[in-house]
Amino acid sequence: MKKKFLSAFVATMMTMVFLCGCGGAATAGEADNGGEASKETLIVGTNAAFPPFEYVGDDGKPDGFDIALIKAIGEEIGVEVQIQDMEFDSLVSSIGNKIDVAIAGMTVTEERQQMVDFSDPYYEAVQAVIIPKGAAIATADDLKNKKIGVQLGTTGEFIADEIEGAEVSAYNKAVDAVNDLNNGRVDLVIVDKNPAEVFGAQFSDKVDVVAGENFDFEPENYAIALPKGDEDLAVKINTALKKFKDNGTYDSLVKQYIEE
Ligand code: ARG
Repeated sequence: MKKKFLSAFVATMMTMVFLCGCGGAATAGEADNGGEASKETLIVGTNAAFPPFEYVGDDGKPDGFDIALIKAIGEEIGVEVQIQDMEFDSLVSSIGNKIDVAIAGMTVTEERQQMVDFSDPYYEAVQAVIIPKGAAIATADDLKNKKIGVQLGTTGEFIADEIEGAEVSAYNKAVDAVNDLNNGRVDLVIVDKNPAEVFGAQFSDKVDVVAGENFDFEPENYAIALPKGDEDLAVKINTALKKFKDNGTYDSLVKQYIEE
């Protein structure tokens, strides 16, 4: 009798563990506060070195457009958002184990879609090129046979890898590539337009930023990366995104973080 109870208990626990492992927001762990009802936690991965979308604020905590957006989404869908700062390159493979979702100015690509689902796109971006001030780099041909700095695992790296004669150096943080540009170790940096503009302003005495359109770079779409097949979470997040686009929340975040 006792044994039977025990195995039923074990089976129940295993089912719970199984459900928790696969469910994302709907089933992500509830904080143990002695049985009182509490919000479920949504663990959100990011790489807080990509201003204005994510960076470490003056208080040492991740801040930025993406962080504000996912917090607003969390509030809307009734989950407690917990931000986990990590390398950009490990975000996709961490979804479903270390983190529930990722928001990191992440471009929707076919390769990533093999591993994760994406929310509806929330921002259109394009790569830009940071060059030493006054350098003669203005067209696609000028990118050939150059030393190119990029952030590891980003679309900037994928583009650089396709350029004829390019010698590509990949850094964990885009700003490290910019530092090596300033040191003369690379000739140019390919990085998303908005961070490029932030770095351009930060080092305005040393660099210029050239718009990606000059090099025929394709537009890219940022979206939130989600566990594959979690329809329920995708619908919740997309519904919140649509609401924010309709009611002005999205625009006010753009004003606050991107256009300021
Ligand atoms: N949009 C580019 C990509 O998806 C770069 C994103 C980098 N994001 C970051 N938080 N470091 O590959």
